[in-house]
Amino acid sequence: MSAFVDLRSLAREKAPALPPEALQEALLVHALPTWAGRMKNEHGSARVFRHLAEQLDRAGLDGAACREFAEEERRHGVLCAAVLEALGGQAVFVEEPCDYPLHEDASPLEAVARNVLSVCCLSETVAVALIGAERLAMTQGPLRDLLESILADEIGHARFGWKLLHEIVPRLSPRERARVDRYLALAFADLERHQLAHISDASSPGGLAAELGVCDGRDMRALFYRTAEEVIVPRLEDLGFAARAAWDARRITACASSSASSSGPGRSAPGS
Ligand SMILES: [Fe+2]
Ligand SMILES: [Fe+2]
Repeated sequence: MSAFVDLRSLAREKAPALPPEALQEALLVHALPTWAGRMKNEHGSARVFRHLAEQLDRAGLDGAACREFAEEERRHGVLCAAVLEALGGQAVFVEEPCDYPLHEDASPLEAVARNVLSVCCLSETVAVALIGAERLAMTQGPLRDLLESILADEIGHARFGWKLLHEIVPRLSPRERARVDRYLALAFADLERHQLAHISDASSPGGLAAELGVCDGRDMRALFYRTAEEVIVPRLEDLGFAARAAWDARRITACASSSASSSGPGRSAPGS
């Protein structure tokens, strides 16, 4: 069921001081939807980690870290809401139900591998790259501090996933590994679709926009592809997955699949 989320009072307590020269209409047109999107994505990521924590517990693994990550994502949502309020926006939105796949066609361990892969190794790794670039485009100040505090948590989320995947992979049978390979093409397709939906393909509106966390969309899309092809794919190949072939097959697989929700938990992008 959809839920109405109101972060206004929490956000107003944390509203950062923004450079007055940046608060001009031409920039706000870009900055307001950017931070509203981040707020929703971050807030939604908390639910994904709560589901992952429960899934880990059910599979006999320890979900405690993911419960902490859920709290961190909730905090990220409030921080992004605080920026939105400081820009003159309203930190309220309707949250759609969380479409978290349980992968009941797979063993509990393979199902965990699929979701850890999608949530942490793909989405969180991309988030680290994108937020890292966004914060480097800013000069020192409250907004950069805010992004750096989010980035520190996202690095932890990605590292957790890669470490857990290293532990799980030797316990998967050859058949399960082959099935994860097939799943990977769907997960890549899901990741690409989500990122392209959230990263504009427009050029940057100008120098001051970067101070408000609005980077050049083409640069950010290019960074996404470089992260996928030069970081994620090689790391998965090192783990023994046929990740290069899965990446190359992602668009064919996406077209062939009538069920996008079977791939990944629909994760967040810039600012996951
Ligand atoms: Fe995260
Ligand atoms: Fe986050």
